[in-house]
Amino acid sequence: MQQLYPSPDPAVDPAAVYRHDPPPADRALPRVLVNMVASVDGATVAEGVTEGLSSPGDKRIFFLLRTLADVILVGAQTVRAEGYGTARLSEAAMAARRDRGQAPAPRIAVVTRSLHLDWSTRLFTEATVRPFVIAPPTADPARLAAAREVADAVVVGDTRVDLVAALRALRERDVGVVLCEGGPTLNAELAGADLIDELCLTIAPALVGAGGGDRIIAAAPLPGLHAVSLLSVLEDDGSLFLRYAVGAEPG
Ligand SMILES: NC(=O)c1ccc[n+]([C@@H]2O[C@H](COP(=O)([O-])OP(=O)(O)OC[C@H]3O[C@@H](n4cnc5c(N)ncnc54)[C@H](OP(=O)(O)O)[C@@H]3O)[C@@H](O)[C@H]2O)c1
Repeated sequence: MQQLYPSPDPAVDPAAVYRHDPPPADRALPRVLVNMVASVDGATVAEGVTEGLSSPGDKRIFFLLRTLADVILVGAQTVRAEGYGTARLSEAAMAARRDRGQAPAPRIAVVTRSLHLDWSTRLFTEATVRPFVIAPPTADPARLAAAREVADAVVVGDTRVDLVAALRALRERDVGVVLCEGGPTLNAELAGADLIDELCLTIAPALVGAGGGDRIIAAAPLPGLHAVSLLSVLEDDGSLFLRYAVGAEPG
């Protein structure tokens, strides 16, 4: 993998680029990173899932980001479409996390209003740490009870999850870094509320055309143009790995 920006490096170690110190103890919300892959023409899926856009380099960055996260935040539709399982890390990655004072593996947190999730899937049955299910107070009580059997419920908002309150609740549980893995609907809500600190975007060297799903941020127009600042560009086998700072550095 080579770095093209900010300084050319023909054999960069991505772990030195994608690194995150824990946020200051008095920070009210966790740091939020969003990681997405898109084709050159902006498609986020090929034949309904992301797999066709992903490359070995993309998977390397995907898992590297997971090693940094305390929580992986994901929208329920992505869980359903991609068949989400647990976050498995290598022994070395888990050891590095312990050295940094993190839990051995990140916890997955699913944002859902419907609670239409299959509680018998690996995500809920094979996790070494219980996932979070983040739902609004109006969620169906029977489904919420079923969720509580296999996950820790965070109930915030009104008819929808209030993402600021959700992130605050995670921070109160000592969560420093949240990695959002999409999808575009959840990303849009985070972006609309100015909650994204960093966007990690893989541009896959492919064109998809129609049927390529939403763009990386979809479902709601953002209130005005959101400027982003380029932090780094890596390249591997034609895929580009872009890191952008989003918004002002929150206090
Ligand atoms: N290219 C990539 O990197 C990438 C990454 C991720 C996903 N994807 C693709 O994107 C597609 C899924 O994305 P999507 O935009 O359709 O859905 P999504 O963002 O994954 O999930 C949307 C769902 O999340 C829940 N949700 C989001 N905000 C909420 C809130 N404030 N309160 C309560 N619930 C909330 C709702 O779940 P309920 O419906 O349960 O109420 C909503 O239907 C899939 O095709 C997937 O393959 C691509």
